[in-house]
Formats: sequence, structure tokens, C-alpha cells
Amino acid sequence: MDKLVIDSRGHVHGDVEISGSKNAALPILMACLLAETPVTLSNVPHLKDVTTSIQVLASMGVQVMFDEHLNIEIDASNITVKEAAYELVKTMRASILVLGPLLARFGEAKVSLPGGCAIGSRPVNMHIEGMQKMGAKIDVEQGYIIATAGRLKGADITMEPVTVTGTENLLMAAVLAEGTTYLRNAAREPEVVDLAEFLNAMGAKISGIGTSTLVVDGVESLKGVPYRVIPDRIEAGTYLAAAVVTQSKVTVTKVDPSHLTAVLEKFEEVGALVTTTADTITVDMRDRELKPVNLITDPYPLFPTDMQAQFLVINALADGESTIQETIFENRFMHVSELIRMGADIRVEGNTAHIKGVKGLKGAPVMATDLRASASLILAGLVAEGETVVNRVYHIDRGYELIEEKFHKIGAHVYRLTG
Ligand code: EPU
Repeated sequence: MDKLVIDSRGHVHGDVEISGSKNAALPILMACLLAETPVTLSNVPHLKDVTTSIQVLASMGVQVMFDEHLNIEIDASNITVKEAAYELVKTMRASILVLGPLLARFGEAKVSLPGGCAIGSRPVNMHIEGMQKMGAKIDVEQGYIIATAGRLKGADITMEPVTVTGTENLLMAAVLAEGTTYLRNAAREPEVVDLAEFLNAMGAKISGIGTSTLVVDGVESLKGVPYRVIPDRIEAGTYLAAAVVTQSKVTVTKVDPSHLTAVLEKFEEVGALVTTTADTITVDMRDRELKPVNLITDPYPLFPTDMQAQFLVINALADGESTIQETIFENRFMHVSELIRMGADIRVEGNTAHIKGVKGLKGAPVMATDLRASASLILAGLVAEGETVVNRVYHIDRGYELIEEKFHKIGAHVYRLTG
């Protein structure tokens, strides 16, 4: 199994070009199932989860081709299988996103029920209940969701709590439904907005995009279009966090700063100088004092759970005490025990981490437990004295494109041991 080795050099410096967003690309890839003619997607990141999504689509008979610019052409005109098998879903929960499109376009879908995962139990009850409200008949048999419907019907659906992929699945179901669907308490994440814009570009009629009430007037069919995926705000935030922990200066390019407002506010609160242009963000932490921040994760536009682990490392190194409360997932502090092995002083009580800043961390062999936890261990490794070896690096490959190359470009020594 591959490992990442991080040799601390203390500082990083330079520009990092940000890739397309994983969590926007995944639903957009699945939404291609709705199109009767080919879609061409650009800025899709080269990641394990994208490969898995393409495998899911290909297993249904979708034709997938890459051009010389790595744009992906997806032709879902001839779907032969309306099923996402356990073997694929178990490696990527986002496979559940085929349920809405298959049901809407073909009136049938068989999708393995995703199990729990390292960060929580993560039920999909709202995906299922919403589609039932739209008239689908849904049974769970032998671990599979088996759904059938005539043409889906518009419905008034309120989601509680706010769910990102739940909103996305119901949005994709609603675009071909008969009549109007109201999705209330909808997620407002930029990735949900990107999916909605893509669906509208294909001919859907969605209004209220970016607000917590989406109104969808169903249409008869959708046609493929070219579409460019938004930049990955969490990848950007992670490289900016590298500048903070190493008290250095980093610029991320090809980003949309408006997607990171809550995160940039927290970078300023820890003492960084933050500057933005239309598509870059610079965080300068040189010769500045690192201050701890209290934070609570919440749905967008508030502070994202996907940046919680990175800020835990920042607070672990800041001078003073702080708390981080995780309200989205019940088990998203698995990185804490690994950070403690590197010398951090953190105590978790319920959903809150209590952090006392330490002067420095020490390199150690550590275990990645999920994607963002892995990112936090790399950040810790950048400042730790000595070598840090991150095991189970496949988690990182699910969400960070060319991670060694990008860190190398800003002067960090992060390399892979294969085997
Ligand atoms: N929930 C329910 N019932 C449902 C759906 C969700 O109770 O039917 C609960 C969940 O258990 C959780 C909360 O609602 O407590 C929010 O979960 P949500 O459905 O929003 O999460 P998700 O859609 O499964 C996406 C991202 C995650 C990101 C979260 C929160 C994708 C593919 N995944 O997950 O990304 O952390 O939203 O923003 O978009 C990552 O990239 O590392 C990652 C985990």
C-alpha cells in the first residue's frame, strides 16, 4: 500500500494551481445520465473518485471518451443497465447519486445502499423519502435500493438536516418530473449551485439557485452541452492552510474566492494577511503571530466540515486554547489521536475538540482515516520535526490531484513510497 513521506522543511512558498472540484464533478458526472445527447466536461479533476464514477457510468452502458485536452465526453444515449453494484458503491458513497437521474429518465433504478463510513453513519433516508414523495415505489432488498416509478411527479419536499448529496439527488430527480417541485432547506454549497447551473444549461428549469428553496419546473428531456466544473474550494483551503502552519506565503490560482468567505475570515482571525483577486487568493503568514480560533462547522455559507481537520492542526500550533465543534458528522475527529501521537495537546468531548497549542510537533508514522484527516496529517508533517509517514494514502488520492507535485512546487518535500 502506498505511503506519503513528509520531510519537514519548515516553510513553503509560491503558487499552486487549483484543480476542478471533486464534489462538483461527481454529481455532474452522474447528471450526464439525464442527457439524451453527449456532454463534454472540462476541468474535471483526475482523482480516484472520478475514475470510480466513470466506472459506474460505464457499467450502465455510458460511452466515455477523453480528448487531447483531457476533456471528458459522456454519451448516455444508450443506457443498457440501470444499476449501481455494491462493488462500486462500497468504494464511493457518491454512487448513490445515480438514483435520481436513473429514476427520472427511465423510471427504474437499482442502487446498492451505501453503508456507514469512517466519519459517521451517513444515512440516505432523505434521498429515498424525497423520491417517494415524487411518486416512486422504493424497496430495500438484500442491501439494494430498488426504485420504480412512472414519470415522477412534482412535490413539496423539506430536508432536515441540510444534505448536500440529498439535495443533488432530488434536484436531478425533479428536473424531468411532471409539474413543479419545491426543495426546501436545500443545501447552498457552491457544488450544488454548479450542478443546478449545469442542469439548467442542459435545458432544466431550476430557480432559486444558491438559496435554500429550489423550485424546479419539470421538463420533458435534457440535451448534452459543454460545461466547465468549478474550482475545488477545499483543495484551495488546504494549500492555504499549509502557508499558515508553516508561517509562509502561498497563492492559490484558478479559484473562486467567493466560495471560501467563511474560511478566509478564519485565516484572518488566526493572524494571516489574506488578499484576493478575481481568481487568486494569497495567504501571508510570514513573521506573524499564530493565534487560536474557535470554530463550529455548519452548512454553507458557514464554516465547512471539510476544512475542520486542517484548522485543528492550525490551532494545535497556535499560542493558546481553542475549541472546534463538529456539527455535521458524528465521528469526524479520527485524526485527533494521530495528531496526539505527533505531540499535539487535544481532548475530544462529544462533538467538541479542546485544543491547547504546543510549541512544535514531532514526525511519526501515522494512519490516514479519511480524506480530510489525511490532509491534516500532511499539514502536521510539514512543520513536525523529523519525518512523518502517512499510511493508507489511498484516502488522499480520492480528493487531491497531483498532491506530491503541487507540494513540491511550493518547496515542500512530500513524496510517495509505492508498494
Ligand atoms: N443526513 C441524513 N439523512 C440523509 C442525508 C444526510 O441524516 O438522507 C445527514 C448526514 O448523516 C450528515 C448530514 O446530514 O450528518 C450532512 O450530510 P450530507 O448529506 O450533507 O453529506 P454528503 O452529501 O454525504 C457531502 C460531501 C462531503 C461533505 C459533506 C458536507 C460529496 C460527494 N460529499 O457529503 O465531502 O463533507 O457534503 O459538506 O459531495 C469530502 O469531500 O471529504 C466529503 C466527505
